[in-house]
Amino acid sequence: MAESRFTVAIRAQYNDHNDKCDIIARKNSEDLTPEQNAIFDQLSDEIKKRYYGAGLIIPENLEGKRVLDIGCGSGSLVFILSKLVGPTGYVVGMDISDKLIETAKSQIEYHQKAWGYSKPNCEFSVGNAEKLDFEPDSFDLIVSNGVYCLCPDKKGSFQSAYSVLKEGGQFYLSDVYAERQLPAEYHDNEFLWNRRGVDVDAELATILSSSYLKDNFNFEDIDNEPSTHRNQNPFAYLDKLLAEGNAPDFIFKANE
Ligand SMILES: C[S@@+](CC[C@H](N)C(=O)[O-])C[C@H]1O[C@@H](n2cnc3c(N)ncnc32)[C@H](O)[C@@H]1O
Repeated sequence: MAESRFTVAIRAQYNDHNDKCDIIARKNSEDLTPEQNAIFDQLSDEIKKRYYGAGLIIPENLEGKRVLDIGCGSGSLVFILSKLVGPTGYVVGMDISDKLIETAKSQIEYHQKAWGYSKPNCEFSVGNAEKLDFEPDSFDLIVSNGVYCLCPDKKGSFQSAYSVLKEGGQFYLSDVYAERQLPAEYHDNEFLWNRRGVDVDAELATILSSSYLKDNFNFEDIDNEPSTHRNQNPFAYLDKLLAEGNAPDFIFKANE
C-alpha cells in the first residue's frame, strides 16, 4: 500500500524537529516515582533535548520483558525501559523518522554504559506503525505515546500492533482523541495533518485523526482529561481557521 501523503509530511516534519531540536517539552516529575525520575535525569543530553513530552508510559514488572515502542521518536522511553527490563530484557523502538532513529542509534552505547550493562539491550528501526515489520507474537508489551493520532490508517495500525503482540501481552497507549465528530473535509486536509511547529497545530492534527478512533473503535474508557501540555481550545481555533479561509497563511504568521 502506498504511503499516505500525510505520513510523508509528518516524516518531513519530525526529521526537521530532529535537526532543529525545536520542540521544548518537560517531564512531569509528579507522574513519576523517584526511581523513574532518576532514570529520566540520566538520559543523554541528545535524547533529552528531543523529548517530545507526549507523556511517559512506564508499566510495572518489566524485568526480562521484550517491549516494543511504536513511534519512539529519538528513544527517550526506549532507553528508560531498557534500564527497567534489565539485562535479560530487550526493548525495540521504531519510528517513521529516519533522522530520529539515527539519533537514537547513536545513543545506544551511552545508555548501555550508563545502565552498567555488558551489551546493548535495545535496538531501533525505521518503519511505519501502520504495517509493522516484526515477527508475529514477538513482544510481551507494546507502548506507544502520541503516535496513533498521526497515523491515517487507524485500523491497520491497531491490527498490526496486535499481530506482533504475544497472546496475553499488554498494549499501553497514550494518545488524544476528539470530543466531537468532524466534517469529512477536515479529515482530508493535508495542511491540518501536517503539524508545523505550532502547538495548536498539533492539537488539530490529533483531533482530526482521533475522531477516527471514535468512529472505528469503542474507546469509551479513554481518559478524558484535557491536555496538560497545551492549553489552547482547539475547536475554537479550528473554527477561526476555517472562518478565515486561508489556513496555511494563518499558520505561517503564527510561526513567525
Ligand atoms: C509526538 S511524537 C512522540 C514521540 C515519542 N513517542 C515520545 O513520546 O517522545 C510522535 C512520533 O510519532 C512518529 N510517527 C508519526 N507517524 C508514524 C507512523 N506512521 N509510524 C511510526 N511512527 C510515526 C513521529 O515521527 C514522532 O516521532
